[in-house]
Amino acid sequence: MKDTMKVIQVSSPATVAGLQLSEVPKPDQPGTGEVLVRIHANSLNYHDYAVAAGFTKPKAGLIPLSDGAGVVEAVGAGVDEFKVGDHVVSCFFPGSTDALISGFATVPGDGTDGFAREWIVRPANWFTRSPDGYSHAEAATLPTAGLTAWRALVINGGLKPGDTVLVMGTGGVSIFALQLAKQMGATVIATSSSDEKLERLQALGADHVVNYKTHSDWGAKVFALADGKGVDHVVEIGGQGSLPQSLAATRIGGHIALIGVLAGMKGEVPMHLVLGKQIRLQGLVVGSRRDQQDFVRAINAMKLRPVIDRSFPLEQIADAFNYQISGAHFGKICLEF
Ligand SMILES: NC(=O)c1ccc[n+]([C@@H]2O[C@H](COP(=O)([O-])OP(=O)(O)OC[C@H]3O[C@@H](n4cnc5c(N)ncnc54)[C@H](OP(=O)(O)O)[C@@H]3O)[C@@H](O)[C@H]2O)c1
Repeated sequence: MKDTMKVIQVSSPATVAGLQLSEVPKPDQPGTGEVLVRIHANSLNYHDYAVAAGFTKPKAGLIPLSDGAGVVEAVGAGVDEFKVGDHVVSCFFPGSTDALISGFATVPGDGTDGFAREWIVRPANWFTRSPDGYSHAEAATLPTAGLTAWRALVINGGLKPGDTVLVMGTGGVSIFALQLAKQMGATVIATSSSDEKLERLQALGADHVVNYKTHSDWGAKVFALADGKGVDHVVEIGGQGSLPQSLAATRIGGHIALIGVLAGMKGEVPMHLVLGKQIRLQGLVVGSRRDQQDFVRAINAMKLRPVIDRSFPLEQIADAFNYQISGAHFGKICLEF
């Protein structure tokens, strides 16, 4: 059996072009409470790009990527949750039972080494089971994007059949949110900067679509499309540049999940809309391992399958990030190896 493995490491200072493929010793057998997992797939998130591009000032040699999925190859003493051959997927906050964790110190691919590698030994509670019948790439879409959409709509939002949900753009979080909302009996209004992508959103079940580039006042249009009453939930991935429109789109007493900052980090908040409409603005950072276990159970019940735009080999991680940042994708970008 091979005694070395491929890993990707960030350069110093970190740049996407500087991501390095190395051959390093394969990890030893797992110790007490640990599992050895052969990683077969990752998915890319904006956060992973921020690390790889050096925005977070990662330490030299860090192994990037928070999302990894694969097969358990060995279990250490005391591990009864997994057995050899189980398909597993990583957790954004390893071992966590409470999602109210502050900071990224424990997050794989940021504060600690991540999953852009062929094998890993870690405590068993760094993983949950993958959904039944999922490919490794499908499973790798869950820990960050999928779980964020689940927490935004179901855990924090208390989504009910009949609710109306606004999802923004066609990235990983938003497509998951659309799929979850439709599965759970909600009406979905979806936006994109591309008319071609709007057609694909409709094919996925979006009830109404709006081009946010050609409709600068898209908030009012979304409000009108939601029976003239506004939406119950917004999956807010834009931040500064989109929040005023999201507030305009929301109904009295509605909920906005503050998730992303693709349109800026700071800005003025139209307080008259927050107060006047009694809107609940709730920030969130992904979710706990416990949340992921519930999410996997829900996926098994709903038979939901993630939308993967394209997969790259591990060696082409820089090409995958450049593709991500081009904005051409629809859903998730993965690495498979
Ligand atoms: N808080 C958390 O826990 C958490 C978790 C995951 C992600 N995030 C954040 O959420 C955001 C989205 O993540 P992702 O992984 O889904 O990203 P992604 O897959 O890279 O999605 C990018 C897509 O968002 C759309 N978009 C870009 N700028 C936009 C804007 N100004 N207004 C509306 N839509 C815009 C574009 O869709 P079109 O091409 O269709 O226009 C683009 O293709 C990022 O900021 C990420 O860091 C936060």
